[in-house]
Order: sequence, then structure tokens, then C-alpha cells
Amino acid sequence: MHRTAAPLDREQLAERLLRASVRHSHDPLTEIAWDEPIDPGRPAMPPHRCSLYGTALWDSLGPQEQAALCTRQFAGLLTWTLWGELMLMEGLIRHVYDEDPATRHAQYALTEVADECRHSIMFGRYLTLTGHPTQVGPAARRLGRWLLRTNCVPLLLATTLFVEEFIEAAQREVMRDESLQPLARSVSRIHVIEEARHIGYASAELRHSCRAFGPARRAALAQALAVTCAFMVREAVPPRMYALAGLDARAAHRAAAANPHWHRATATWSRKAVALFRELGILDRWSEPIWRRARLID
Ligand SMILES: [Fe+2]
Ligand SMILES: [Fe+2]
Repeated sequence: MHRTAAPLDREQLAERLLRASVRHSHDPLTEIAWDEPIDPGRPAMPPHRCSLYGTALWDSLGPQEQAALCTRQFAGLLTWTLWGELMLMEGLIRHVYDEDPATRHAQYALTEVADECRHSIMFGRYLTLTGHPTQVGPAARRLGRWLLRTNCVPLLLATTLFVEEFIEAAQREVMRDESLQPLARSVSRIHVIEEARHIGYASAELRHSCRAFGPARRAALAQALAVTCAFMVREAVPPRMYALAGLDARAAHRAAAANPHWHRATATWSRKAVALFRELGILDRWSEPIWRRARLID
């Protein structure tokens, strides 16, 4: 094992994150009341954040069906996040493989893997209780395999950071809204607390990686990142989610794609990632149209 001296700022940040992990780590298996029945009349996410909210299709549904659709969408977001977590865990393990495990930096990366293991189990439990599929569709699975094969750490870091910021913003709203399903709020609260550290770590790592990039590499990363995130956000609420909710998948997908309320939600949840990518020059004027077309910038 060759010992590479990590820059002091990386070590200091890792030390801070390790201390925060000791103070604020949660065990969802014991801290969440899994046995409490789920009230089907209570939505798992705010109705105004449902992809169909405000459309004619939404208005045609009764209150129970609207609540069920909100819960279905929340469950779908967890399936999508679980997929992102599995990729991130593999990326982190590969990252640590080349590092010295004696550094705080490597130790924090392993701590994050432990956090993500607990999250993925927590999401799996929620998905079992709601009956939603635990795996994303075949196209998304292919993209995930491709992303891991590229072994491009900055692209993997940036795309998983996008997923983390997006779900963190969505779950922060769920956690705070007392009218929503208690189980969804408990799951969201634990995830939001622990994701704050992950976002801090991924942002610093991405900044560190991008520092070494010349203009050509930065522009290539910007294109790849825009295309990947545009694809990923489509997978966050895929057509099959509507079919599982008993709706016409094509009609519902079309209605969501034209829904200004939904565009506002996706742009709001993407805001922090977009700001960071702009600052690092990996969202540039050539890739910005892709972000706009995907409704990730309003
Ligand atoms: Fe997570
Ligand atoms: Fe995370």
C-alpha cells in the first residue's frame, strides 16, 4: 500500500464528518415504528409536488386515489434513490481501494458506505410495506452499469450528488409536513439528517477532482453530466409508476411532461446541484439547454 498524503483540508473535512457521524447516526430498524399501519388516505408526499397535480387527470381522481398516487410517487423516488445508493457504494469502495485506510478521508468514505447500507435497507423495508418495485427499470439498470464501467469518478460523484441533492430537497418537504404519512416522514427525517454529511463530502471531492481539469475535459464532463441527469430525472418518475397506480401510463406521462407544477418541483429540487455544477464549470452554456429541456432549470 503506497501512502499518499491527503491534503490537509480533505483530512480536516473528513475528521469533522466523522465526528458528526458519531453524534448523528440513526438505526432505522430500531428507530422507526415499522409495525404501525399505513393510513391509505394520507399521502406520503405533498400533493402539490405530485407530477400530475393541477392537471385534468389529477382532477379526475378522488381524494383516496390522489393520496395513493402521492404515496406511489414517494415510493418510486425511494426506488430511484436506492439505485443511486448502490452505485455510490460501489464507487466509494473502489475509491477507498486506492487510498490509505489510515487516512480520515478513507475512513469517512467507509462510514458513508455504512450509512448508505442502512438507508438502502430502510428504503427496501418501506418499499416492501407499500408494495412498490424495489428495482428501477432495465434502461436505468443499463445506465448504472455503464456509469460504473466508465470508472470516471467525477461523473459518478456528480451524478450521485445530483440524486442526493434532489431527494434531500424532496424529503425535507416531507419531513416538515405534519399532514403527511408518519412512516414516510420518519424515513425522510433519518435520510435528510445523514445526507447532509454525504453532500458535504461529495461536493468537496468533486471540487477536488475538477480542480485538475482543463477546459476540454470540463466541457466533456459537462455534456456527459447533463445527459445523465436528464435521463435520471425521467427515471425518478417513470411511466410504469402511473401504470402501477392504475392509470394510463402514456397519457399520465404526457400530462406530467407538460405540467408547470411538476417542472417547478424538479427545478426546485435540482437547484443546489445546479448551482454547484455551474460554479465548478461542469454546467456550461453548451450543456445548459439539456438541463432546461429536462426541466431541471426554470
Ligand atoms: Fe442515502
Ligand atoms: Fe447519501
